[in-house]
Amino acid sequence: MRIEVNCSRNYPIIIAKGCLKDVKKYINDNRKIMIISDDMVPQAYWESLKSQFKNCDIKIVKHGENAKSFEIYEDCLRTLLKLNYSRHDLIIALGGGVVGDLAGFVAATYKRGMDFINIPTTTLSQIDSSIGGKVAINVDGIKNCVGAFYQPSLVLIDPEVLKTLSKRHYNNGLVEAIKAGLIGDEYLFNLFEEDHLDIEQIIYRSLLVKKAIVEQDEKEEGIRKILNFGHTFGHAYESYYHLHDYYHGECVALGMMVVLDDEEIKKRLASILHKLDISTSCDANRNEILNLLLNDKKANQDMIDLIKVDKIGEAKIVNMPIKALEKYI
Ligand SMILES: NC(=O)c1ccc[n+]([C@@H]2O[C@H](COP(=O)([O-])OP(=O)(O)OC[C@H]3O[C@@H](n4cnc5c(N)ncnc54)[C@H](O)[C@@H]3O)[C@@H](O)[C@H]2O)c1
Ligand SMILES: [Zn+2]
Repeated sequence: MRIEVNCSRNYPIIIAKGCLKDVKKYINDNRKIMIISDDMVPQAYWESLKSQFKNCDIKIVKHGENAKSFEIYEDCLRTLLKLNYSRHDLIIALGGGVVGDLAGFVAATYKRGMDFINIPTTTLSQIDSSIGGKVAINVDGIKNCVGAFYQPSLVLIDPEVLKTLSKRHYNNGLVEAIKAGLIGDEYLFNLFEEDHLDIEQIIYRSLLVKKAIVEQDEKEEGIRKILNFGHTFGHAYESYYHLHDYYHGECVALGMMVVLDDEEIKKRLASILHKLDISTSCDANRNEILNLLLNDKKANQDMIDLIKVDKIGEAKIVNMPIKALEKYI
């Protein structure tokens, strides 16, 4: 399966089972190649990738959100410098959203921008974060505080690699696909009610929803905001639990549950989430969540854009006073 993304830089996304073993078909290795990965991505994957190129180095960072830090970012830059990388060389991200965001930001900034290829290996990154060009690191606990819009030249998705992902991470990433269904593709949402989840279709259709949106609004001036469905409250839950107790997708699931007004859609979503072992409610303190919403970076003075879904497959942006969010929790 192939998707062409047409924005400031056009690039293909290729989804093919087993493609990690056959990347030379897609990547020109007439240059130096730096693979950036983390220490929980199975070694067999990066060894297989490295073995296919003639002039290739590898940088393994410690896994976890802390990899998106200035220290690790700087360390990656120093490694490139020490090994004489030029801006005509290539960086490949091999890992989840953390590695993709970090490696993408390194590629965007080293010598004013190197070629960047993303090989996402988690459901979250295959479904969502590898497309759209957002790359970033965190500063002082503020997520994605320093970053860029920087498009890759290729995204290579091998659904086979998901076999080694923990069940919790696997299901966590699926929440972004459920969200994509709710905002833009009823058929995709319905796939989650089948007995067997067709992961390739889920990845493909989720990417089509996101592609259609980012092509219209690459820099998130308007319509791209609908991708934030469930994220207004989701980010507040993430901050409340200090990014520990719940993963990103799990917080978005909680966030979608609270903003849905339609009881029927809410019931269907809850039953899908239960099947995936994802909580539909939590014990967060109401006032603290409200305070976090007031401090949300997307809030403009006392108004906020809340994304609403009243019909599966259709989202709208509603500008409302932040105070009005009280009724949801
Ligand atoms: N750029 C964007 O548009 C965007 C969108 C959403 C989220 N994000 C970012 O993505 C990050 C979260 O990404 P994530 O959920 O993929 O987490 P992650 O990158 O931390 O990966 C989760 C864990 O799975 C391990 N792993 C990766 N692939 C594996 C595999 N195939 N088998 C076994 N283990 C594997 C990783 O080493 C890590 O420990 C956050 O930093 C978030 O801000 C970015
Ligand atoms: Zn998200």
